[in-house]
Parts: sequence; C-alpha cells; structure tokens
Amino acid sequence: MNVLILGSGGREHALSWKIAQSPLCKSIYVAPGNPGTAEFAQNQNLDVNDFEAIAQFVVSKQIDLLIVGPEDPLVHGLVDFLKENPDTASLRTIGPTRAGAMLEGSKDFAKQFMKEEGIPTAAYLSVTQSNLNEGLAFLQQLNAPYVLKADGLAAGKGVLILDKLEEAEEALKEMLDGKFGAASKTVVVEEFLDGIECSVFVLTDGKSYLMLPEAKDYKRIGEGDTGLNTGGMGAISPVPFATPDFLKRVEKEIVAPTLKGLKSRRIDYRGFIFFGLMKVGEQPYVIEYNVRMGDPETEAVLPRIESDLLKHLLACSEQSLENESLRIDMRTCATLMIVSGGYPGSYEKGKGILLPFTPQYSVLFHAGTGVDAGKLVTKGGRVIAVSSLADDLPAALKASYRLAQEVQFEGKYFRNDIGQDLLHEDENRS
Ligand code: AMP
Ligand code: GLY
Repeated sequence: MNVLILGSGGREHALSWKIAQSPLCKSIYVAPGNPGTAEFAQNQNLDVNDFEAIAQFVVSKQIDLLIVGPEDPLVHGLVDFLKENPDTASLRTIGPTRAGAMLEGSKDFAKQFMKEEGIPTAAYLSVTQSNLNEGLAFLQQLNAPYVLKADGLAAGKGVLILDKLEEAEEALKEMLDGKFGAASKTVVVEEFLDGIECSVFVLTDGKSYLMLPEAKDYKRIGEGDTGLNTGGMGAISPVPFATPDFLKRVEKEIVAPTLKGLKSRRIDYRGFIFFGLMKVGEQPYVIEYNVRMGDPETEAVLPRIESDLLKHLLACSEQSLENESLRIDMRTCATLMIVSGGYPGSYEKGKGILLPFTPQYSVLFHAGTGVDAGKLVTKGGRVIAVSSLADDLPAALKASYRLAQEVQFEGKYFRNDIGQDLLHEDENRS
C-alpha cells in the first residue's frame, strides 16, 4: 500500500514512524515532512493547502491512503475537493470532510452541536457586533475568570482567559473589531471550568470507533504551568486520573453522542476526533474538539499502540472499523518537547543540532528541524520531541529527561516539571 501523510511536525514524524512498521506499508511519503521522516519515508515538497498539487501527486504515485495531519486543509475542504475530483474520488482518506471539520473550524458550531446533543460543556453565548450588549450582559452574569474564544481558526492563539470583568469587556470588543481577523467576527463567551485537563482520542469511521490511549498535554511555556501558551511542551500517557470509570463516562456522555450527532447530520466522518476535556470532580466536560491528532500527544500515544495502526486506518477509511480492535501497551510513555530559546515568542533558527544515541525504548521525533549545508539545524519553535516507554511514570520521565539533556543546540529549553503533577496519582494507580 502507498501512503501519503500531510504535515511536517512531530505528530507527522510519529504517524509515519508507526505506519512504516506495518507489513501492509509498501511506500510512505510525507509532504512536506522533515529530516526525521526522511529517514524512512520519502519527503515531498508540497504545500498542505495546495489541493491541486496534492491531487496530482496522489495520482502520479498511485497513493492508496491519505492521512491528513493538521486541521487547516481539512477545515478548508481538502477531503471534499479530492472526492469531487474524478481522478481522486476513490482515494481512501483519514480526515473529515469540511462539514465534519467544523467541529474544530468553528467554536460556535461546536458549542451549538454540543448543546443540541446534550454533551456536557461550559455554558456559553455566541456574540457578534449585532448582539454585543447581550454579550456584555452575559459576561456580567459570569464569575471570574472570563473565557473568550475566537470562533474560527487562530493558530492556537484565539482563546483569552481574563481575570477582570473590565478586561474581558474590552477584549470582547477588540475581538469583534478584528483582533484575530475574520476568526473573531464571532466570539464564544464561556463559563470558566475549574478542573484538570486531559485529551481523549478516537478513531471513527462514522459508524463505529476505537478509543486510543488518552494523554495529558502541558500547554504553558513555564514550569508550574506559567507563562504563555505553546503548542504543547510535553505529554504523558496514560493519565492516572483518567480511571476506567471516568473513561467509561467519557464514552457514554461524550463520544457516543458526538458520533450520533455527526450521523444524524449526515456528516461522513472518517478520521480522528480529539476531545479536549476538563474533569471537574468526576464529571467530564468538552473544552474543545479537534479533528486531528494532537501534537505532542501523538508522540506519547502512538508508542503505546502495539497493533497495526495502518490496518486500523485502512479499515476506518473503508468503514469496517467494527472488526478492528486495538492492542495497547500498558506501560507509560513520557514525551518532552525541546524548544528554541524565546519560543513561543521570537526565536532564532538555523542552530546546529547534535542528537544522542537513542536507546531501545526511546524515540526522538523531529518537530522543527531542517538541513542546512548537510547539517541538521533548528527550523521551528518546537524542535525535537523525546518519548520514552517504561513500566511506570518515574522511569519513563527519567529516560526522557536523560535523553533530553543530551540533545544539543544553542538556546535549547525544555520544562523540567513534565509529569510531576501526576507522580503522586501514578503511585496510587500501581
Ligand atoms: P482551546 O483552544 O479551546 O483548547 O482553549 C485553550 C485552553 O484554554 C484550554 O486548553 C484550557 O486550558 C483553557 N480553556 C478553554 N476553555 C476553558 C473553560 N471554559 N474553562 C477553563 N479553561 C478553559
Ligand atoms: N497539543 C494540543 C494540540 O495539538 O492542539
């Protein structure tokens, strides 16, 4: 089977690393890919939003399965485009059509969807210029802190959490005035949920689904969850507080009604759904949907999948997922993201990277690396993800931290407290 994966980050390195291990995989292409994926796949310099070029490549390389890593092409209708094009209409794809991608592409759509399906989520009001006064009145009814979300895609920056009512009122007006361009023409004003976050991933063919291992992401740049939001500074899987009872509740109250809602709207959804959850007491709430895998969660989740992911993906694209079952490694995976100094603000690129020898139960996934004059150099904010599997969380962290210390480039930074908040709970689990 010839597989094409779109994207260039740690998530796509992890996806291609796992898929390349499948006996079903004949050729694997990653577009545009990175120096890590180049070790076992063929990188192709394609823009993930250039639908024509993707269709041509699919035809010329006789691609059997396309896996879309990032959300952007999905929200802009790549899957619809390929289905409507006679040359690519029969291509198997992992990733929803434009209608399904609205779950991530529009927070207003996602909130309305959850409300209609009775899925637990924070109370909210969608605000535009035309109901600004109602929006301001809604803010006044809420308790601090105040959560404001740009409706559309805003490169992960569209959520503001503000402590003071006056700040929130001001920010709401600024957002409607175009602070995030067209993405904030509509703003979702939301109740703040005080709890603990985790991410649950599902692979669905629209009829049935597989629950992938869950993960906890560390979003802030600073230790103790301080400072600016990033794409993610580390991930742990499994999550000790996501107990079997809690996960059963997530399936019953969140996953099943989400799939029912997609079906009743006749949305053909074949791909991943990432449920960003907040656990408040024992109750799970949906904070957000994503229509793709998470990054760096993928780097912690995929090393725990023992069964053949490509076989599952193929079944997903052919709507025969009901015959599949996952085999999951019970060990813990700890992923640390090593980033460029200055990230998520401005940072320098082009710093030479030295990578250490990687022991058996660890993997170095490339995220923002490039090649300059034959040498590996930094090319992005998030540079390398280090993942290690071990019998328990302390051992997994120890292995990843040892390796992270040995990765060398000027200005490198990583958080020293990934997983620390879970150590106590991990002891209780074992
Ligand atoms: P989102 O892009 O929707 O995932 O939001 C970014 C981050 O903001 C989330 O990961 C949460 O940490 C936080 N957040 C979003 N919505 C809420 C909420 N209603 N209550 C508390 N925190 C929230
Ligand atoms: N790590 C969060 C995300 O992928 O959106």
